[in-house]
Amino acid sequence: MKPLSSRATDISPSPTVAMDARYKDLLAAGRPVVSLGAGEPDLRMPEAAVKAVECALREGKTRYAHMAGLPELRAALSRKFSEENAIRYSPDEILVTSGAKQAIFTALTAVLDPGDEVVIPSPYWVTYPEAVRLLGGIPVEIATRFENGFKLTPEDLRAAITPKTKLLLLNSPCNPTGAVYTRAELEALAAVIVEKDLFLISDEIYEHITYDGALSVSPAALGPEIAARTATVNGFSKAFAMQGLRLGYIGAPAAWAKAMVAVQSHAAHHPSTLSQHAALACLTASAEIFPPMRAHYAEARTYALSRLSALKDLGVRWNDPAGAFYVFLAIDALLPAKFGDRKLSTSIDLAEYLLDTYDLATVAGLGFGREGYLRLSFANSLDVLKEAFDRLERGLRALAHA
Ligand SMILES: Cc1ncc(COP(=O)(O)O)c(C=O)c1O
Repeated sequence: MKPLSSRATDISPSPTVAMDARYKDLLAAGRPVVSLGAGEPDLRMPEAAVKAVECALREGKTRYAHMAGLPELRAALSRKFSEENAIRYSPDEILVTSGAKQAIFTALTAVLDPGDEVVIPSPYWVTYPEAVRLLGGIPVEIATRFENGFKLTPEDLRAAITPKTKLLLLNSPCNPTGAVYTRAELEALAAVIVEKDLFLISDEIYEHITYDGALSVSPAALGPEIAARTATVNGFSKAFAMQGLRLGYIGAPAAWAKAMVAVQSHAAHHPSTLSQHAALACLTASAEIFPPMRAHYAEARTYALSRLSALKDLGVRWNDPAGAFYVFLAIDALLPAKFGDRKLSTSIDLAEYLLDTYDLATVAGLGFGREGYLRLSFANSLDVLKEAFDRLERGLRALAHA
């Protein structure tokens, strides 16, 4: 038999999705597992969106629709971009996709030729390098520093650029580190991007989940030159807890948007119309949806950080997240470790041990491009968090130095 595509077989499945699948399998098998693993809201999808789906179904809105997304949804997104992000994207410059993941994939497809280099600050969201590889591009990782809040500096960006560099993939607020870039930091990066004639994909899916006054700023709002080379990604999976409905969107300059519409017209046609109606209802109700959602994650964050503070004597370290709902916990001081006969050398060993021994799901840092860390998601109720952090504390305290 002939081999499968090397592009497909050379990439690995998403470690976050794989850990979540394992957690859900164990739960289904009756194991009392709890999870700090999945990057998904614990909240329910807004009632307005539920009603919109019911209504759309009853009204038979189930036929093929526009390949770029429902015109009324793109008009609403164009207003959203203008009011919330100070970016002007006309409805024709917006593509509605099956999740932000699909938006990033489509944007990369429209820009990359084989051999093009894409700069990705690490730690990164697990999908970025694999999507680039799948499209024949070359991911170039720039290691950001814990001490610097895991933020890419203009100097490091400049040093990574070669004649083959085509694009920078930036994520603020960031999964997994919780870093939120300030306007000044983005201006400094934008100056390099414009000078070096790069494209930028700005993934802003956590824009509404920020803490302690941190503000998510859109690079495309910083001036016409950077706007002309930036695609802005967003979606309904996080702030609107609509992750299962798979709905995202992307705004981009006209030529880039046109190329993406062509790609989507062949790859997917368009995302589910039911999800698009739900999204429209969310945008209309966002002023009521955001305050309780933000308060929920702020409370969960405060609790998670207080529990971690009680573990400082073990040598674990973290940066308080300014956005998103994760803590990227440095556990290198604990490794290598022993639990009975079991030897733990890596973050993967530690995550496996916590799952096997304490029924606690976490995600090893390696999938995010950084060994020596665990990603903990605090998108959970306080009850679940209490149980999860009790187990984490027991699990980490039970380790002996190898
Ligand atoms: C940084 C980042 N971008 C994009 C996504 C994808 O979101 P969606 O569910 O809209 O595909 C995620 C999901 O975890 C994410 O963390």
